[in-house]
Amino acid sequence: TFAAESIGDLRKVDIVAHRGAAGYAPENTIAAFDKAVEMKADYIEIDVQRSKDGELVIIHDTSVNRTTDGTGKVGDLTFTELRSLDAGSWKGEQFKGEKIPTFAEILDRYHGKVGILIELKAPELYPGIEESIAQELTARNLDVPQNEKIIIQSFNFESMKIMNELLPKVPIGVLTSSKLHTTPEALQEFSTYADYFNPSYGIVTKDLVDQVHSIGMKISSWTVRSQEAADFLLEMDVDAIITDYPDYVDPRN
Ligand code: G3P
Ligand code: CA
Repeated sequence: TFAAESIGDLRKVDIVAHRGAAGYAPENTIAAFDKAVEMKADYIEIDVQRSKDGELVIIHDTSVNRTTDGTGKVGDLTFTELRSLDAGSWKGEQFKGEKIPTFAEILDRYHGKVGILIELKAPELYPGIEESIAQELTARNLDVPQNEKIIIQSFNFESMKIMNELLPKVPIGVLTSSKLHTTPEALQEFSTYADYFNPSYGIVTKDLVDQVHSIGMKISSWTVRSQEAADFLLEMDVDAIITDYPDYVDPRN
């Protein structure tokens, strides 16, 4: 992008709209994902969990309390119950009526239009969710490399090992905010099943970026909510910047 090229070594940085363009619209809703596409993000980032009756749904917290007008845990509510909630009003009256999307809806609406960075959120709460994710992707031929820009990531490394076995051609990312995971030994272990090392920006250094690149992995960092953070990550020369504000990375937006 313009911003990256003017600062870095002409290598393009991917802009990932965190939970959609979450700075401008209610996170993890169609309004936020459409806004990200309108702002020309390269990827949208989504958080996937599972309803009580097995539907894959897009929501960040493990409870619905913060981002909807309901209460309770995602995994204790049926899809019908989750779907009846208003996931938009908390962000502003103009977003009233936004619903919790399903994973299938997001794939159908956006694949081929924008990259999709799929986070398995707390997969330890949803045994077998890896198989369901793999099925939805395979049914759409999104499990093969064809410039479809699908990446799967999680803070749960065991879950990512399973995903890598189920979908060996889909890039995998590991998420962390711990410096303990930045040692050469830890990075080497990640590289046996993951393609991306995705740290919070507080632990990013130029040395870390160089180390990750030297073992053949890419690095995406999160979560940008200020211009300073965006400028820092552009200088660090990461491969992708995960941001609530896509325009902080590319001022042309
Ligand atoms: O994509 C990285 C970032 O989303 C990880 O943190 O809490 O926003 O899911 P969180
Ligand atoms: Ca996330």
